[in-house]
Amino acid sequence: MSEINQQPSTKNNQPSTNWFASWFDTKYYHILYKDRDYKEAQTFMDNLTHYLNLPEEAKILDLACGKGRHSVYLNSLGYDVTGADLSENSIKEASKFENEKLHFKVHDMRDVCDSKYDAIFNLFTSFGYFENDADNLTTLKAIKHSLTEYGFACIDFMNVDYVIDNLVPEEVKTVENIDFHIKRYVKDNHIFKEIDFEDNGEKFHFTEKVQALRLTDFEKMMEEADIYLLDIFGNYKLQPFYKNQSERLIMIFK
Ligand SMILES: C[S@@+](CC[C@H](N)C(=O)[O-])C[C@H]1O[C@@H](n2cnc3c(N)ncnc32)[C@H](O)[C@@H]1O
Repeated sequence: MSEINQQPSTKNNQPSTNWFASWFDTKYYHILYKDRDYKEAQTFMDNLTHYLNLPEEAKILDLACGKGRHSVYLNSLGYDVTGADLSENSIKEASKFENEKLHFKVHDMRDVCDSKYDAIFNLFTSFGYFENDADNLTTLKAIKHSLTEYGFACIDFMNVDYVIDNLVPEEVKTVENIDFHIKRYVKDNHIFKEIDFEDNGEKFHFTEKVQALRLTDFEKMMEEADIYLLDIFGNYKLQPFYKNQSERLIMIFK
């Protein structure tokens, strides 16, 4: 049996590439999550654009867009959309949908964009990955700087308290004949997901590690980034946020 494939390691056994740069760029990430709920994503985009009252010609940035499921739908509503993600493979896939008002680019969310947007969306827990806390703040500041004067941003994060209360410690998910053995646990204020599987006789191991950021953490960072938090919702229907019951922590800011 071959060695286990995972994030590349340095001599000190420290990952030389961040987990988010490698795992999200593999085909296995997309296989494991292939049953993502498009309908729910679309309902969320309908509700969010309606709530923000975005004009028809609005320019939207889908920051950490993955393969562009939200971008494509937002463009179908008539908006001028740019999807940006660190994963080259995801952007390559998403680019197949490009048109005059839909573009994709490889971009690190910590960097300020070269254009300004009327709305910037960071969706489906695409935050809290960095080893260094300062990078969270850098990302928030980059979002703020990439907004137009009257622009709004939205971060759609997990509700950590709900996730911890409902954590499934172990499960096996079979997708496209691959058995993904998944372990979940909380350690050092992060939520970990260890993913083990075998494909064509090769063993793979990946780790997802997301910072357990609560509303109070975001409030502190936003204050530091001189960001104004306007509204908070607890699910994709944009119903109120309740710390112990809501599935999502959806923050609207400018
Ligand atoms: C949980 S996925 C969500 C993808 C997409 N928003 C969706 O809902 O399908 C997180 C995404 O964040 C991207 N990502 C991770 N770190 C990033 C960074 N520093 N800059 C830009 N994108 C990043 C990953 O490549 C991945 O596509």
